[in-house]
Amino acid sequence: MLHLAMRVLFFCFILLLTNLAYAQSPGMNAAPSSSVHAPKLTLTLRKSRQSPSDLEVGGELEGLPAGTTGFLTRDDLLALPRVDFNVTGDTNFADSTRITGVRLEELAKRIAAAPTSALAVAICDDKYRANYPRAYLAAHHPVLVLTVNGQPPAGWPKDSQEHKYDMGPYMISQANFLPAFKILSHSDEPQIPWGVVRLEFRNEKTVFGSIAPRGAHTTDAAVQAGYRIASQNCFKCHNSGAEGGQKSGVTWAVLAAMAEATPEDFRAYIRNPISKNPQAQMPGNPSYDDAAIGALTAYFQTFRSAAKP
Ligand code: HEC
Repeated sequence: MLHLAMRVLFFCFILLLTNLAYAQSPGMNAAPSSSVHAPKLTLTLRKSRQSPSDLEVGGELEGLPAGTTGFLTRDDLLALPRVDFNVTGDTNFADSTRITGVRLEELAKRIAAAPTSALAVAICDDKYRANYPRAYLAAHHPVLVLTVNGQPPAGWPKDSQEHKYDMGPYMISQANFLPAFKILSHSDEPQIPWGVVRLEFRNEKTVFGSIAPRGAHTTDAAVQAGYRIASQNCFKCHNSGAEGGQKSGVTWAVLAAMAEATPEDFRAYIRNPISKNPQAQMPGNPSYDDAAIGALTAYFQTFRSAAKP
């Protein structure tokens, strides 16, 4: 009996080895034999949109001038290696939801000019932006969602804020989100946008450099903490020039002016926007303690004080 079991095990082992060898064979996309790099698995971008469900891609892309926009169809994406998992810790889904999709890292490998260092930026139809720095990609392996419970976007659940919006054409999620860092009372947050229409691969320093603190207090611990909190939170909806989300229509310069002129209102708005504006759409941050709110205020104030000697 034991003998038989061992034979079966051995047989399975050989099968596994054969399969592994097959999966790793470079196939049609093999790099020229002179290349010392691992084979680059190319993915050709389309020049124009074929369908509303195409994903627009831009930023710094492999072999293309910066600023080029291209398109990938849903079928192009479905043909890539996919992951398949049950979602936990994503408020867009009930816990028993099964998802398949392509890891952003997998896409970066194929289309980003700097696949191992690029920042991925997901842009939504309402101009919200989710940023995926290298550290986030490595810690959480976010996935461009292609099917939900086996269904294409038309069969997806509606948004969890009860607006009953469609969550397609693309969403981003991850298997099991556990915060990877904490800055004061801000915990690493899952970046789970829906209504994603465009994905960019960008230089991380350029993007976050646009909101780097200015002036004499730049290196203060509170200012640096505020910078990091704002990078993950405020930058999704508030922009600095062409960088950052434009969902709010309120720029970094306006926030900085408010932090300087009326810091008490600024603080109150961050924690509970409705207390200052009954129509506020901005989500509050009730879990931020005084240190976190103080750090954000000190950080935003550096843009103003930078103008002074
Ligand atoms: C999910 C989007 C979103 C995020 C994230 C966000 N905001 Fe806002 N914010 C808005 C919107 C939208 C408005 C416009 C007024 C409103 O609807 O609340 C706004 C307005 C504000 C205002 C009032 C500006 C004014 O002129 O009265 C302040 C201050 C502010 N945001 C600060 C912040 C800070 C600081 C952060 C990060 C800690 C942040 N916001 C994160 C969406 C956001």
